[in-house]
Amino acid sequence: MSQQLSVIGTGVIGNGWIARALAQGWDVIAFDPAPEAEVRTREFVANAWHSLTRAGLAEGASPERLTFVDSLEAAVEGADLIQENVPERLELKREILADIDAVAAPEAIIGSSTSGFKPSDLQQDCTNIPGRVIVAHPFNPVYLLPLVELVGGEATTMTAHIECAQSLYQALAMRPLVVRREIEGHIADRLMEALWREALHLVNDGVATTEEIDAAVVYGCGLRWSLMGTFLTFHLAGGDAGMRHMLEQFGPALKLPWTKLEAPELTDELIDKVVEGCEFQAADRPVAELDRRRDDFLVELLGLVQKYWPEAEGLEGRI
Ligand SMILES: NC(=O)c1ccc[n+]([C@@H]2O[C@H](COP(=O)([O-])OP(=O)(O)OC[C@H]3O[C@@H](n4cnc5c(N)ncnc54)[C@H](O)[C@@H]3O)[C@@H](O)[C@H]2O)c1
Repeated sequence: MSQQLSVIGTGVIGNGWIARALAQGWDVIAFDPAPEAEVRTREFVANAWHSLTRAGLAEGASPERLTFVDSLEAAVEGADLIQENVPERLELKREILADIDAVAAPEAIIGSSTSGFKPSDLQQDCTNIPGRVIVAHPFNPVYLLPLVELVGGEATTMTAHIECAQSLYQALAMRPLVVRREIEGHIADRLMEALWREALHLVNDGVATTEEIDAAVVYGCGLRWSLMGTFLTFHLAGGDAGMRHMLEQFGPALKLPWTKLEAPELTDELIDKVVEGCEFQAADRPVAELDRRRDDFLVELLGLVQKYWPEAEGLEGRI
């Protein structure tokens, strides 16, 4: 029997979930009060379908299995999994998650795409089964990137909610990473924000342009990270003695003030520098064209990761 994903909020991320689930042969029911939402989503899915087809569609996959409805109650009816993707405002998310929890079938899991909020805060106003309201944080473009961080709150139990969520997201061809303890920003956004803060400082201090900083990532650390991440990459940096030697050699540098912990003030001048830098890099290419280029690249890159790190396939149970 086919499975059903219900998507609440169909912006960039909600649409990404929709495209992923359709490509995996699921039925999708969506709700978003914005008047142009359905047209926007159908266009989004049509664009994403090109790279999803290259990546491989599941049997029965079709954009026609998407239905838009005009109420939250209608959207969640019959769902195995409900994904909330409304704007990142705690009060709004709390209210909507409480509404979803009140009407969803008891066995349904409710995942929030929140980038930063803790699940216990999201569960606050849920009075039905708060434990099934968890963080399920994806990465843009959701239809191609496999990682989803799963974080349970105080009311969540490992067996009833997290294990069930793991198998649902695996059925969407994702790689669930269960985060052991709830913290703001989960794992990956904390890492990305650290890099982002430093990048903004480098622009603010006039050390580098946005293009130069992007080149440092694209031609340097970024290429390595896509296969081995930060720890294993540094293990290799220590030569045959691995991480122990790496820490002996470069550990003292951690005490040097290379990096700045506080983010720079987002002054008008810094905002202009960053925006103009990005516009220069985009060179009049519309975002849709850049999206397509990134997606084509990601499809091939995912194939390369599988080719050069096939063991990672077996990590499913451990992460
Ligand atoms: N953009 C990213 O890269 C990214 C990555 C991972 C997670 N997230 C998280 O995903 C969530 C959504 O982010 P986004 O970038 O898609 O935002 P967005 O602004 O693109 O989309 C939000 C959508 O929610 C809709 N909405 C507003 N009120 C609603 C309501 N009451 N009921 C249903 N829909 C409603 C809006 O009409 C809009 O379509 C946020 O929590 C964000 O932190 C974003």
